[in-house]
Amino acid sequence: MVRVGIIGASGYGGGELIRLLKAHPGVELVGFSSRKHEGKPLSAAWPQLWDEGLFATLEEVLGRAEVVFLALPNGLAMELAPRALEEGSRVIDLSGDFRLPPEVYESWYGIPHKSPGLYREAVYGLPELHREELGGARLVANPGCYVTATTLALAPLAAEGVLQGAFVVGLSGVSGAGRGGEGTFFAEVNENLRPYRVGGTHRHIPEMERNLGRLVAQGPRVKTHGPVGEVRLSFVPHLVPMTRGILVTVEAEVDGDWNQGTLDELYGDFYVGEPFVRVLREALPETKGTYASNRVDVKPLYEARTGRVMVFAALDNLVKGMAGQAVQNLNLMLGLPEETALPKEGLWP
Ligand SMILES: NC(=O)c1ccc[n+]([C@@H]2O[C@H](COP(=O)([O-])OP(=O)(O)OC[C@H]3O[C@@H](n4cnc5c(N)ncnc54)[C@H](OP(=O)(O)O)[C@@H]3O)[C@@H](O)[C@H]2O)c1
Repeated sequence: MVRVGIIGASGYGGGELIRLLKAHPGVELVGFSSRKHEGKPLSAAWPQLWDEGLFATLEEVLGRAEVVFLALPNGLAMELAPRALEEGSRVIDLSGDFRLPPEVYESWYGIPHKSPGLYREAVYGLPELHREELGGARLVANPGCYVTATTLALAPLAAEGVLQGAFVVGLSGVSGAGRGGEGTFFAEVNENLRPYRVGGTHRHIPEMERNLGRLVAQGPRVKTHGPVGEVRLSFVPHLVPMTRGILVTVEAEVDGDWNQGTLDELYGDFYVGEPFVRVLREALPETKGTYASNRVDVKPLYEARTGRVMVFAALDNLVKGMAGQAVQNLNLMLGLPEETALPKEGLWP
């Protein structure tokens, strides 16, 4: 049994980690941190849980765990990860702190990077592309929901070397903003649809472009710190009045002649054997189809009338877009079967 701690256990990511890890046969949960709920039972933050354990300070959690999940706002993992690593723990960070080169991070996040040297050690935790690197990792940068959906929607085209760019429309449920998310009051979200961070300003754009650029430069099995090619994306996110779920609708700019048959073959071959990526032939991805599961549904579509190549992808932002992906990374880091404690099927309705 590996001793695992969760820092930021009162947030949405932390809560989803508790749900998944409680059912993990190789893990002993040894600590949960929250400033607000320190000393109180877990049910103080999570009414759905039976009382098991108390919230502690982050120092206590760091002292007990062999692997720590950092489920904190951006800017905190860069201070905590070095401490955890010095104490001999391994770290899975759910924030953006180690996903981008420090100078790129600073310009998109507006936060000075306090551990720039550690970026070179971090492995980018998208298992479908970085599986081989994750085995020995001490520090994993776990990608988020929009980035996972968009990268997996376009990866086969990028690895084939035909992707030039894309126009991505993203739709997200409200839990994507976190438990203290701004602008998520019921009265303002309910019966409302709105775009946000438009005009090429969303901070996930450089991460998507780098992921796809690596595939363009390196082919299907990429290294986090290997060469990165050029891919340009327009990304237009929208907030949708639902709790969980991400849907991306993508128009890909591609070289060559395509039809539905060649697209189906490319996507089918690329994702063959992947435990959590399902390529749809007839149906279209929908958020509820992936609700509470660690699955991504992907559908490439050739629009014969215009000659456009489109791709749709759906996932649960709190599971494959966050905590489930982090558990998938934990399994790979520990050499356990990758699917351990991760649901492939979700809840319906
Ligand atoms: N929500 C999503 O769909 C999603 C998807 C992918 C990635 N992410 C990323 O994952 C991370 C966590 O997101 P989330 O949605 O779980 O956020 P959240 O619901 O807002 O939770 C944040 C957690 O951090 C703790 N915290 C806040 N400030 C702190 C501080 N200064 N020191 C110590 N603890 C602090 C909070 O607990 P206390 O206030 O009780 O201490 C809480 O437990 C973020 O970086 C986010 O960008 C989120």
